[in-house]
Amino acid sequence: MGLDPVDQRPLLARYDLDRAAQTLSHESIAARRSGGLWRWHELLPVRRWESVLYLGEGGTPLQAAPRLGSWLGLTALTVKRESLNPTGSFKARGMAVAVSRAVELGARHLVAPSAGNAGGALAAYAAAAGVRATVVMPVDAPPANQVEVLATGADLLLLDGLISDCGRLARAIADDAGAFDLSTLKEPYRVEGKKTMGLELAEQLDWKVPDAIIYPTGGGTGIVGMWKAFDELEAIGLLGAERPRMFCVQAAGCAPIVRAFHEGARFAAPWPNAATAASGLRVPGAVGDFLILDAMRNSGGSAVAVAEPDIVQMQGRLGSLGLGYVSLETAAATAGLRALLESGLVSRDESIVVFDTGAGFKSEPAPIPTPRVIPNDEDFWRQEVLPGFRRRGA
Ligand SMILES: Cc1ncc(COP(=O)(O)O)c(C=O)c1O
Repeated sequence: MGLDPVDQRPLLARYDLDRAAQTLSHESIAARRSGGLWRWHELLPVRRWESVLYLGEGGTPLQAAPRLGSWLGLTALTVKRESLNPTGSFKARGMAVAVSRAVELGARHLVAPSAGNAGGALAAYAAAAGVRATVVMPVDAPPANQVEVLATGADLLLLDGLISDCGRLARAIADDAGAFDLSTLKEPYRVEGKKTMGLELAEQLDWKVPDAIIYPTGGGTGIVGMWKAFDELEAIGLLGAERPRMFCVQAAGCAPIVRAFHEGARFAAPWPNAATAASGLRVPGAVGDFLILDAMRNSGGSAVAVAEPDIVQMQGRLGSLGLGYVSLETAAATAGLRALLESGLVSRDESIVVFDTGAGFKSEPAPIPTPRVIPNDEDFWRQEVLPGFRRRGA
């Protein structure tokens, strides 16, 4: 299965929602205390429990970020901590579901292009299933992503090109070797895994939605998945008709969706010479572009691009404000929120959810001043080190 053979656009999964509503209620979901995203199995495509590959994905906290909130002057800011997923990013959700389903349907060799995190997640879940995985990454993908693919026993191909070129090579491998192509939105089930972020969010907010969702966007499956989640929850009576405004954040060096949004275009033209250190956002063209644009437009949201230095600076700022070491993509989303506040598209008293989509350890490390190495010599410590720590006046 790939794109729709009629129009070459993504296929989306549909469920028997009347049947789902028979077992999925506010009470039944509250009673399911473990199982991460698989608590929502009625709205997922995997048919048999034995097919489920569970490494702990989903069920991430929605946390208050008081120091960040007060720095930005916000009263109701929360952060969805996707970086706590098993492979350190929200990509684990999509791959958990897509690999479980692909293997359930008989696939034994999986292939995907990846900016980094999706490849690591594919490798992890393919290993859990005991099937072969091949990951095609741009040559400048973060080293941590390359290592995790190799460490989990998958094949890694580094291509001298962009993620879109990796997609072409992945397709060629699929056609030639009979591997199953798990490219973003070119099969219908990765987005089903990402959808669970929206399901969880509604539950965590006591079956309400926030005023605004801020999401760092590359291929856009996070936004598309959550938008689908809200519709399905409404259809089964777990949520009302209200929707959050969806805001997509991209890097100034690769902002095809932002440009298309502001030009009023239906589709996003490919971005030439895509460049940003936030590798998950280095996606010059997204096959689900119109779905992302629809979600923003239908929700009254918008799209914003942030400058490269702002992304790197924000990563440090978030660390010092208590969010831990977050990915450059998370930093981009937060820099985007700041820009949205300045432009008045989001206001300070609204309930806002920023997605922390990945851990800092997965990103290209920021340049830092090299810390000095101290000799293992107590006299040296007393003379040269400790005076620098002494309380003033002591
Ligand atoms: C950490 C992180 N955040 C955000 C994104 C963008 O996600 P999407 O491609 O679903 O828009 C990626 C994609 O690789 C990512 O790895």
